[in-house]
Amino acid sequence: MMPNDIKATFSVPFAYPVCFTRNLFSLENRLLSDAFHLARDHRQTRALVFIDEGVAAARPGYADEIGPWFDGYASDAELVCPPHIVPGGEPVKNDYRLIMQLVDTLLEYRLCRHSYVIAIGGGAMLDAVGFATSMVHRGLRLIRVPSTTLAQNDAGVGVKNGMNLHGGKNTIGTFHPPFAVLNDLSLLDSLPFEHWIGGVSEAFKVAMIKDAAFFRDLCKDAACFRSRDTVAMERQIRRCAHLHVEHICSNGDPFETGSARPLDFGHWAAHKIESLSHYRIPHGAAVAVGLAIDAGYAERLGWIAPADYAALVKGLRDTGFCLWYPEVGRRFGGDLQLLEGLADFQEHLGGALCVTFPDGVGQKREEHTINREAMTESILSLRQWAVAESPA
Ligand SMILES: NC(=O)c1ccc[n+]([C@@H]2O[C@H](COP(=O)([O-])OP(=O)(O)OC[C@H]3O[C@@H](n4cnc5c(N)ncnc54)[C@H](O)[C@@H]3O)[C@@H](O)[C@H]2O)c1
Ligand SMILES: [Zn+2]
Repeated sequence: MMPNDIKATFSVPFAYPVCFTRNLFSLENRLLSDAFHLARDHRQTRALVFIDEGVAAARPGYADEIGPWFDGYASDAELVCPPHIVPGGEPVKNDYRLIMQLVDTLLEYRLCRHSYVIAIGGGAMLDAVGFATSMVHRGLRLIRVPSTTLAQNDAGVGVKNGMNLHGGKNTIGTFHPPFAVLNDLSLLDSLPFEHWIGGVSEAFKVAMIKDAAFFRDLCKDAACFRSRDTVAMERQIRRCAHLHVEHICSNGDPFETGSARPLDFGHWAAHKIESLSHYRIPHGAAVAVGLAIDAGYAERLGWIAPADYAALVKGLRDTGFCLWYPEVGRRFGGDLQLLEGLADFQEHLGGALCVTFPDGVGQKREEHTINREAMTESILSLRQWAVAESPA
């Protein structure tokens, strides 16, 4: 620095609650009005609700409860229009025109920086609505109501938003911490099987690199997840959400300025599998394969015991995940196309490759070079698991 240069330094504290409830809009539930009261200004403001079309279709009664709830409870927030239905799943993240329609809606209803955007949906819809919300007037208050297991234990509880462009996952987006996250567990009842188990792969991910006891519990509960045991599912959601939030709050890099991404264990492959399949394979299913690939690599290099690798594969399969898809073994010019995911991941990180692997169960290590032969072996060894355990 030159003596006369100006140095700007400031820090901004962020805080938001992650709460668990049931039937958020039933007339006796006050959680949302408690969330509004977190605003220190206590001024009368506006609110707009977006609902994932998958939620609206599976539970029409849910959207119908919102108007009466606001009439009864929300003295400090006026609902500006009936809930808007938004396309659900990956398609909403693949089309920037849909994101701009969300922006238009927020401007049309004259939402200001003190207004609330309430987004009820899966991780993809939350990423899209969050992205639009973060751009309008440079950021409105976002209240997320995650509606899938994966959104409740991972996607909905963090600080990131985004969409897919140029054939890659999350190539544009923003960091925009929510105002509050309200996990309504009753929403999970209507999930189709593949999305009911979807979040369990993210739980195995975080357990394998951070919490050995949680990993063992997940292995024990795997068949319960498959048979739609709500107690086991809710237990893993709370524990997994806690580990994700704890990581964001305590690792010193909530906005990912460094090059390590521990919570992206298994994700270089998962993101590539999703895009190779043109998003036919959902995120949670792709993460299950990505974990098996990177854990298999860790086992080959002696970082985890064969028994721990076998426990992971069994846990994922007992949950109901398939660990092989045609895209996983597809070749281009002799090489597995999936391996291109390593270069994509490197570019996303910003220059240097840094891949997280388990180092014993419950611990992690970062690696900067990958032995492509060992990685190819690990990938191809999954071919034997082409068929998933069927739902109980
Ligand atoms: N921002 C982050 O930090 C973060 C972290 C992890 C994952 N993600 C993203 O999350 C997305 C995956 O999210 P997901 O697994 O929640 O799937 P999803 O959002 O794609 O939803 C899956 C399907 O379920 C439907 N649905 C949602 N809730 C429902 C309900 N209660 N009943 C019936 N149907 C319902 C949706 O309409 C959709 O068709 C990916 O795009 C991934 O990249 C983001
Ligand atoms: Zn993920």
